[in-house]
Amino acid sequence: MKIVVTGGAGFIGGNFVHYMINKYKDYKIICVDALTYAGNMETLDSVKDNPNFSFYKTDIADRKAVYEMFEKETPDIIVNFAAESHVDRSIENSEIFLKTNVMGTQVLMDACRKYGIKRYHQVSTDEVYGDLPLDRQDLFFTEKTPLHTSSPYSASKASADLLVGAYYRTYNLPVTISRCSNNYGPYHFPEKLIPLMIANALNDKKLPVYGKGKNVRDWLYVEDHCSAIDLIIHKGKVGEVYNVGGHNERTNLEVVKTILHELGKSEELIKYVTDRKGHDMRYAIDPAKIHNELGWLPTITFDKGIKNTIRWYLDNKAWWENIISGEYKNCYEKIYTNR
Ligand code: NAD
Ligand code: TYD
Repeated sequence: MKIVVTGGAGFIGGNFVHYMINKYKDYKIICVDALTYAGNMETLDSVKDNPNFSFYKTDIADRKAVYEMFEKETPDIIVNFAAESHVDRSIENSEIFLKTNVMGTQVLMDACRKYGIKRYHQVSTDEVYGDLPLDRQDLFFTEKTPLHTSSPYSASKASADLLVGAYYRTYNLPVTISRCSNNYGPYHFPEKLIPLMIANALNDKKLPVYGKGKNVRDWLYVEDHCSAIDLIIHKGKVGEVYNVGGHNERTNLEVVKTILHELGKSEELIKYVTDRKGHDMRYAIDPAKIHNELGWLPTITFDKGIKNTIRWYLDNKAWWENIISGEYKNCYEKIYTNR
């Protein structure tokens, strides 16, 4: 089996590459990544010399380069993780979000139509459903929840999902879509909540909590997301959407306090800052479909996962210190200075 993993030098794609290479010794994994600010070859250090691994530094929106890769590799499955993924950046400028997340998806699916494919899998997000109110703990996102986006990021992901559905209906392309809740774990870029708070706490820098910190996210350890996608591409029904989440809802403040507690740091490091524009209140996934139809269950509790994650950031300082001392510094200042 030959599997193309786009965005494999990023957080979840990188974890998925490791997961698949370790689990399927006879699969070929072809990573396609443009190495944007979020892509990092060091994430792939341990697999880069594996004979079953190959890498293309390619933009998924570059039709010519994508077609060439298809001709050379004749892949069986595409798993599309490649995306611009940060809500705050999409609020600053959404252009690249539309190019990569929508046009890139189109190019990949056109290549699948032209060269043939067993499965095209789109890695989407629960953010396409918009948000849920804080005072309705009985409500969850199901696969039937209407798309209702808030940020330019989520709008671009929802647009891509609609296009994937259209390619299924119009051209019979064998597609599946997964919509997962917030991931956390190793190799998470330190602009996102959990790694940013770990890095700042370790550096005794202020921890910028948006608004009052009451927004709720449904956290899933990244390896559990990888196992869900593995199941979907092998056993999922073509044309279907699967929600992925593990009922691990926490307010942002709870998450931040847990990190401070685990690191033995003072809560005085918390700084409440101006809220994010259009900030979604609560995300919460109902994972009944993937559980009932494919037997998927998460295996790592939040308590265990957050400990693993903190340990990883302590043991791999070089990986994230490189990032926060580089170009990312400018972006950090743009988002957080005078906030
Ligand atoms: P990430 O930002 O860490 O990684 C994205 C990767 O895509 C990077 O390696 C980057 O270089 C690459 N990339 C960006 N533009 C590209 C392009 N034009 N061509 C080729 N490669 C390109 O993102 P992530 O958090 O790993 O998210 C991966 C996917 O999972 C995204 O599609 C995201 O929408 C989805 N998702 C993320 C979460 C989460 O909590 N992080 C939750 C649900 C779904
Ligand atoms: P984030 O990791 O950006 O993921 P998403 O917005 O896609 O869910 O943010 C998670 C939550 O944490 C979100 O409610 C915004 C909040 N947040 C902060 O309070 N401070 C921060 O510095 C960041 C990056 C996020």
